[in-house]
Amino acid sequence: MTKARILVLGTGGTIAGAAGSATGGGYRAGGLALAAMLEQLAALGLDAELVPQEVARIGSQDIGWPQWQALHAACLGAMDDLSITGIIITHGTDTAEETAFLLDLTLPTHKPVVLVGAMRPADAVGADGMRNFANAVKVASDRQAAGRGVVLVMGDSVLAARDARKAATAQIDAFKSFPRGSLARVTPANLDWFGPPHRVGEAARYAFPASLPRVAILTAGAGMDEQPVQALLGIGCKGVVLAGMGQGNAPACVLTALADAAVAGVPVVRSTRVDEGLVDRNIEVDDDALGLVAARALGPAKARMLLMVLIAVGITDVARIQAAFDSG
Ligand code: SIN
Repeated sequence: MTKARILVLGTGGTIAGAAGSATGGGYRAGGLALAAMLEQLAALGLDAELVPQEVARIGSQDIGWPQWQALHAACLGAMDDLSITGIIITHGTDTAEETAFLLDLTLPTHKPVVLVGAMRPADAVGADGMRNFANAVKVASDRQAAGRGVVLVMGDSVLAARDARKAATAQIDAFKSFPRGSLARVTPANLDWFGPPHRVGEAARYAFPASLPRVAILTAGAGMDEQPVQALLGIGCKGVVLAGMGQGNAPACVLTALADAAVAGVPVVRSTRVDEGLVDRNIEVDDDALGLVAARALGPAKARMLLMVLIAVGITDVARIQAAFDSG
């Protein structure tokens, strides 16, 4: 078998974090250049040729449109480049689910695209980045990783972008997969897929947008009133995602204001501020009457990403938006 040739796109994050002290609590995400990171990894004797391209050196809280554009263009180029067999993106974990999902929605599936991060900076005691990266190389080198969309490799697990959620602030197994379980277990030596590729030969689900509209997440809280909804519309939001209570609920006055927004042409998606669980249509809230969309399994961050893409490509009616949230 020929050796895998993997494009490595660096963006920063804790995997490239530098504390300068093994015991210090603080560190700078993206402190380490991609080239320096790969030099450290060379000692691992990974069985792949790595082609580095630094896109950014930032904490992922600052990731946004320019980096997403650059990542998408680089991935698309690598998809068409016969010499590249897979793609790895090193990324901060805080927004890994958003970047992974955006790329998942807008790239074809014929080559592996693997996002990888770390919870501990590269120079910390027990740093997890090297192992996660070695695992990512294992995944990106595997033919069976194609046809699954973008995946996230963290904590010896491979998670589909649509299912991956950051569920802990600091521990190394910070990600969980919901509603489906992980796609595979991976170590630097072994990779065990739990099922066959389920998206073989898929084209990009959506065109990569020319820009993304302003879509806000509104978190519901007990005792709140409707003024935050009006404020969001006042600053020109083109869509609103409710991080609602329980199954996507909110005080009556807030739901009324959101229904008014929907009538005025601003799509509203109800997700939940609860860590896990579905938000289905018409359970506690009458979506049909209010003109709202239920986020189903998507949490607020990914619901916002999907809604931004849909609005950007001209999909704004409730039925089509709901269909996009319903589709696996
Ligand atoms: C970041 O998201 O850039 C910082 C946190 C992390 O990578 O775990």
